[in-house]
Amino acid sequence: MQPEQRAAAELLREQAGWCRQLGSPLYEALLERGAEDVEGAGPCWDVLADEASGGSDKGGSALALRFMASVHRIVLEGRTPSLASHYPSAGGHTDVVADAWRSFRQVVEEHGGEIRSLLRRRCQTNEVGRSTALVGGFLLVAAATSLPLRILEIGASAGLNLRWDRYRYRSRDGAWGDPASPVQFDDMYEGDAAPPFEIPATIAERSGCDLDPIDPTTEDGRLSLRSSVWADQVGRLRLLDGALRVAREVPVQVER
Ligand SMILES: C[S@@+](CC[C@H](N)C(=O)[O-])C[C@H]1O[C@@H](n2cnc3c(N)ncnc32)[C@H](O)[C@@H]1O
Repeated sequence: MQPEQRAAAELLREQAGWCRQLGSPLYEALLERGAEDVEGAGPCWDVLADEASGGSDKGGSALALRFMASVHRIVLEGRTPSLASHYPSAGGHTDVVADAWRSFRQVVEEHGGEIRSLLRRRCQTNEVGRSTALVGGFLLVAAATSLPLRILEIGASAGLNLRWDRYRYRSRDGAWGDPASPVQFDDMYEGDAAPPFEIPATIAERSGCDLDPIDPTTEDGRLSLRSSVWADQVGRLRLLDGALRVAREVPVQVER
């Protein structure tokens, strides 16, 4: 086995471990089997070999996540009914992992050229859940300055967290934001750790930059963002879809 092959299998296994810890049993299982497939020089190695051998992936460029997002994109486009039947994001069920793996491997085999090309896209997971941590800091700055806020983000991607004030946050004792927002965060805070929801805030400016901005108001942009969410995490997908609705109403410039 080539050292690059061993390293690629290791990256998939490492990501499988993160998926286990972060509540994605489907991706954990597919990545574990994907690692074995790489070691056995199967279709997964065929599509990953160029990226893994080019030395571009030292772990930091998230090869495993780019791989899963590439396959997910094809599923979300409705072109692989067999794998879609195992992906909750496409209305499927994850009950028989062995069947899901068979369909996954077949998709990788049949769409190898396309997956190799999609793999060159960088990992751009937009996670609006991060706003639940950011909101506390923003409110404290608003209270300390009594001024409107300028929200500026490096690596903003689609800029979904730049619209944090359009989301609704709820803790045991209070809430902040528009009760009718399509993005609703419930029970995200433990004990007394909730942000100071009694503080109001207004936004004077929101703007970002990114190496490769995604426009969340286009079909292609929305597909890229949805592909990055793990296929069995429908709660995250629901939040993302809500944020995509907000993005249509609240324009933000993200400069390249
Ligand atoms: C994982 S995404 C996070 C997107 C967003 N901040 C969020 O939390 O939802 C990381 C983003 O950082 C961008 N990025 C990486 N290196 C960068 C750089 N040197 N300058 C600007 N953007 C960068 C990537 O293109 C990618 O869109």
